[in-house]
Amino acid sequence: MKKIFVTGGAGYIGSHVVKALGEAGYQVLVYDNLSTGNRWAVLHGDLVVGELSDRQLLSNTLRDFQPDAVMHFAAFIEVAESVSNPLKYYRNNTLNALQLLEVLQELNIGRFIFSSTAAVYGTPEEIPVAETAPLEPINPYGASKMMSERLLADLTLALPEDFRYVALRYFNVAGADSGGRIGQAYKNPTHLITRALKTARGQYPALQLFGTDYPTEDGTCIRDYIHVDDLAEAHLVALRHLLNGGQSDIFNCGYGHGYSVREVIEVAKKVSGVDFTVIEADRREGDPAALTAKSDKIVSELDWKPRHDDLEYIVRTAWEWEQKVDAKLSD
Ligand code: UFG
Repeated sequence: MKKIFVTGGAGYIGSHVVKALGEAGYQVLVYDNLSTGNRWAVLHGDLVVGELSDRQLLSNTLRDFQPDAVMHFAAFIEVAESVSNPLKYYRNNTLNALQLLEVLQELNIGRFIFSSTAAVYGTPEEIPVAETAPLEPINPYGASKMMSERLLADLTLALPEDFRYVALRYFNVAGADSGGRIGQAYKNPTHLITRALKTARGQYPALQLFGTDYPTEDGTCIRDYIHVDDLAEAHLVALRHLLNGGQSDIFNCGYGHGYSVREVIEVAKKVSGVDFTVIEADRREGDPAALTAKSDKIVSELDWKPRHDDLEYIVRTAWEWEQKVDAKLSD
């Protein structure tokens, strides 16, 4: 049984990957400080509660576990916060990643899957954006991830046999486990689908729609929403690639087409059955008009088979989860 060490495995995306790893028969050890993650979200394997910055604990845990591969999810993810507090992002997302890589090198652990983001592209000139597009992040969050990608690229160049990685650039991850066991559980979510559904539940008086004058068909931003279980499956195919001797590589994770904010709001109203209030507001700083993935590379090279390319399914699983999350958080 192959052993996988998962940083941030108690968080939103990490926990869905841990679920998929468990179902696929891997042995999992999660390392998470539970700052945004939750113990109940770890459905498989064991959990070590620790800081990524705690080199000693990280090193001892890895030495004891001897994983075949490491998946690194632990990171800060809020674009706006990264703009107001950039060093926080570089310290956690870049420096802690660097330290993790040092520890892995010391222990001869050389297979690594990295959570990257579409934010590395900034405002791409062409969409759908391909993996080969220039990296021009427009905020410290994207830059902190881009810098980590660079560390990985340089390390694999230096040690082509001993260190191999896959970086997955996530587009707009949404939805929840179809069994309703896990989902997004942030205290103050900023993502569109979660905000819309919490508004439908009466937790916010209205949903703000940021910008109606974009050069898109209906004037609102277009994003490529990917169901979290399909993203989890992308990690599994990337892992198999590395464990089977595959080379280091980078893949977009999206469906290759997008929906506008207005379209998402319509689906959120339909699924929830609530005609919640929408306030048309100014543009939010740093939002590109349209961001969709060129996604054929992961399909053709890793045989990724997404199963939930369906906005209504994405919103429905998120809606079912919203009925449960408050009780989970107050457990
Ligand atoms: N939006 C609203 N109202 C809200 C929330 C969002 O109108 O209350 C709009 C945004 O302006 C944007 C769209 O909905 O046009 C999607 O916004 P999200 O916040 O859901 O997602 P982003 O596209 O901003 O962020 C995603 C990832 C980030 C990543 C970024 C890269 O969540 O991690 O893409 O551009 F950095």
